[in-house]
Amino acid sequence: MSTLLITGGTVVSATGRTEADVLVDGEKVVAVLAPGSTLLGHDLTGSVDRVVDATGKYVIPGGIDAHTHFELPFGGTNASDTFETGTRAAAWGGTTSVIDFAVQRTGERVEDGLAAWHEKAAGSCAIDYGFHQIIGGVDEFSLKSMELLADEGITSYKLFMAYPGVFYSDDAQILKAMQKAADLGLLTMMHAENGPAIDVLAEQLYRQGKTTPYFHGVARAWQMEEEATHRAIMLADVTGAPLYVVHVSAKQAVEQLAAARDRGKNVFGETCPQYLYLSLEDQLGASSQEWGDLEGAKWVCSTPLRSREEGHQHAMWQGLRTNDLQMVSTDHCPFCMKDQKELGKGDFRAIPNGIGSIEHRMDLMYQGVVTGEISLERWVELTSTTPARMFGLYGTKGVIAPGADADVVVYDPNGHTSIGVGKTHHMNMDHSAWEGFEIDGHVDVVISRGEVLVSDGEYHGRAGHGSYLKRGLSQYLI
Ligand code: URP
Ligand code: ZN
Ligand code: ZN
Repeated sequence: MSTLLITGGTVVSATGRTEADVLVDGEKVVAVLAPGSTLLGHDLTGSVDRVVDATGKYVIPGGIDAHTHFELPFGGTNASDTFETGTRAAAWGGTTSVIDFAVQRTGERVEDGLAAWHEKAAGSCAIDYGFHQIIGGVDEFSLKSMELLADEGITSYKLFMAYPGVFYSDDAQILKAMQKAADLGLLTMMHAENGPAIDVLAEQLYRQGKTTPYFHGVARAWQMEEEATHRAIMLADVTGAPLYVVHVSAKQAVEQLAAARDRGKNVFGETCPQYLYLSLEDQLGASSQEWGDLEGAKWVCSTPLRSREEGHQHAMWQGLRTNDLQMVSTDHCPFCMKDQKELGKGDFRAIPNGIGSIEHRMDLMYQGVVTGEISLERWVELTSTTPARMFGLYGTKGVIAPGADADVVVYDPNGHTSIGVGKTHHMNMDHSAWEGFEIDGHVDVVISRGEVLVSDGEYHGRAGHGSYLKRGLSQYLI
């Protein structure tokens, strides 16, 4: 067991900041000490195996990205990051835990889907990983299988009101799953978009010759998200199940969440960096020499990017400040342009849905601190502490305190990060949705359970370091 001391930094938590040294023994934080404290001896720096100098820097709990899709079979192809490449990119960006989605579809056994996900991840991950369970086919068998999930450390599952014929559940299926979840204490995660209505609108647009990526955003109108969000809240209410709405992008959906929360309901919402920074007009409507108007396919995801003119991005930041939205995850679901996104050339409906951001979430959210959108403490809360509490990891993860896993990031507020392919890009993608973004900060050192994964611009991690996280029940419920 080796020891490590992080000295001279400002330790930031969800509730405050303090000048402190952090002592790590093996995989755990064992002490948070006043700088230069002699409590544990006069020459602590001389007696530990390694000293990390964090002078002038922030020392924060490692990021937890609670929404990723490594190797997801989707849109006629597979998401391009494996557990190995995706978790390595995550580590580069200061994320030390991920929660990915195991998949069950109609006619498949939940147990088989889960076993397949364990097989993909085991021995491959650079950082710790857990699973949510997608229930893509709610029937008597999958409902029964939900009873096994909590014992497996899977205390949240996802339903889809979108993607008919793929993962879609109708209202009767949702109601039954939520009733079961309420009994079991599971957290229902919801993709809230009215899929059947979207498919009609998409078909009509296509027939009118409106085939470019821009129309992906037109078909998936905010009304489709608001309506589904409202319906999900009502179904959850009638069953007593807590509800967590994923990838919220419409300001009207935030209003639905806020109204439910004001009524004291266990209703939560997550947004993603793409809904804070990117827009329907600028990205989905983009054109390039290489790809023509297929360029916009780089940003085809669901829910879609929304109109800046309509003010959705502003509303997302505000929701994060007011805690009407509680978390920021990436919904990391990367596809290359070549052979993947280009499947949708001439038909936006065939573009695989998803954006890759796992490497940049901590930086992109830190930029929100720089621009005054959120406080330093809120940054830590949104990216680490609340994800830990929401998904039953808090105490071990999401905080720097004695007894917690030594998942620690040293972040330099005087550093700089230029995002783009050929600069900082470790995701398995042939493009970056964040090309050209400049960040006024830098992930300097990344430590996962006491092992230094990144330091001095070098990667020291390894596939297989990451362990499976058996999660407890949500620690965030009212
Ligand atoms: O576009 C997205 N979000 N792709 C991943 C699947 C999902 O709906 O989360
Ligand atoms: Zn989704
Ligand atoms: Zn997703």
